[in-house]
Amino acid sequence: HQAKLTLDPAFKVAPVRRRTFGTFVEHLGRCVYTGIYEPGHPSADDDGFRRDVLDLTRELGVSTVRYPGGNFVSGYRWEDGIGPVGQRPRRLDLAWHSTETNEVGVDEFVRWCRKAGVEPMMALNLGTRGIAEALDLLEYCNIPSGTTLSDLRVTNGAKEPHGIRMWCLGNEMDGSWQTGHKTALEYGRLAAETARAMRMVDPKLELVACGSSSASMPTFGAWEATVLEETYDLVDYVSCHAYYEEKDGDLGSFLASSTNMEYFIRSVVATADSVGARLKSRKKIDISFDEWNVWYLSRFVNAEPPTDWPVAPPLLEDHYHLADAVTFGGLLITLLRNSDRVTAASLAQLVNVIAPIMTEPGGRAWRQTTFHPFAQASRYAAGDVLRVEPVSPSYDTKLYGEVPLVHAVATHSEEGTTLFAVNRSTDEPLSLEIDARALGGVRVVEATTLTDPDVYARNTADDPDRIAPRPNPDVEPDPLRILLPPVSWNVIRLA
Ligand code: AHR
Repeated sequence: HQAKLTLDPAFKVAPVRRRTFGTFVEHLGRCVYTGIYEPGHPSADDDGFRRDVLDLTRELGVSTVRYPGGNFVSGYRWEDGIGPVGQRPRRLDLAWHSTETNEVGVDEFVRWCRKAGVEPMMALNLGTRGIAEALDLLEYCNIPSGTTLSDLRVTNGAKEPHGIRMWCLGNEMDGSWQTGHKTALEYGRLAAETARAMRMVDPKLELVACGSSSASMPTFGAWEATVLEETYDLVDYVSCHAYYEEKDGDLGSFLASSTNMEYFIRSVVATADSVGARLKSRKKIDISFDEWNVWYLSRFVNAEPPTDWPVAPPLLEDHYHLADAVTFGGLLITLLRNSDRVTAASLAQLVNVIAPIMTEPGGRAWRQTTFHPFAQASRYAAGDVLRVEPVSPSYDTKLYGEVPLVHAVATHSEEGTTLFAVNRSTDEPLSLEIDARALGGVRVVEATTLTDPDVYARNTADDPDRIAPRPNPDVEPDPLRILLPPVSWNVIRLA
């Protein structure tokens, strides 16, 4: 196969948004306990945080971390997680049929964020709770001192305010599985009044209204329209959530999952803009794609429902292979390509739960295959996002019809230009010609590829580097051409 694309700084989409590289820590399974936090672990610091996970989080290049859920947040009482740890209540977590010990709460999480060098993004419970509790949490977190709740935070050891700017007004409130699930109008009204009250405390907060849990929800589109009609002037973002998995051995469609993500983004942008037009507003609502990943959800849904209420059980511990990582890279490319409107995103999740980082309780931490596209994109995407207009052969997919074999995006800054590209072909390499004339006399500084003869090969704790980026030797300088192996994620850096 042969394809061609053009790198030209004039084809600017938007600046690279650092918040594209957000992730998510939910009180779910082993994400918090034995994930970021494990006091008895050999690498644990004085606060009980695993240093090995902190190191991998930094290496992953995470910008923001959404917390504490997810479905968990819709039954969560934030006050359970503050004050002396020994006195904190144990509660049933209805979302994940677990027992929550509350050893980690908002103060610990923010301390962890400071150590990891990431921005906290807080989700509010609009399932079982409402405006008053949202205001209480905001006061506790962001008011420096001098009120009962802010002074309580100081007493609890957090002298400086947490300074949390981004707040999610609930989670997946369109889903029947959500505790306190609501209709679009019920939710839209509650989100609007919560946002209005929060803005009275601080007008500069960045607020996210819940969009649809997936583009296949029966209320998709109508949900966004109703919610935004109620909240348009009060929020900055509407959320999108999407998970993909290979179904029925249909690898071709799976590798093309970003086609669905692209459709999802365009539909939500169109819906938001049509509400804006009706309201005669010049304001634009951005997308916070605050849950995205490969997730073998059908395995989870079809598993035996639990009968007990364990503490931090292993849940949603998907073990990713090469094809998962290449599909994942395609999703990341789509997020970047849409940086004009997708200005924040959170990979769901960070550790153990559908995660790029895995840990053994008391033992090792290691990188899943999906770690690498994320880490490379976060590290090398800089400056502006460029459209690259690939001219590529296509292939037929069951789910999305004809889809190009190459999916790509580039970024450009004074330091150089980086191209991110996947080859979706399952059987053939693809020769990609890169027209870089508009960049002047640049050369390839580094070309790496993530691939393997076995598309289902995985990393394990014993063989953690089976799938990792390796130098791509198949680069020709003039004309600039690179060979992309079948089922591969590729990074080409020019300067
Ligand atoms: O990330 C796992 C779950 O997926 C989240 O808790 C929920 O918001 C979504 O359905």
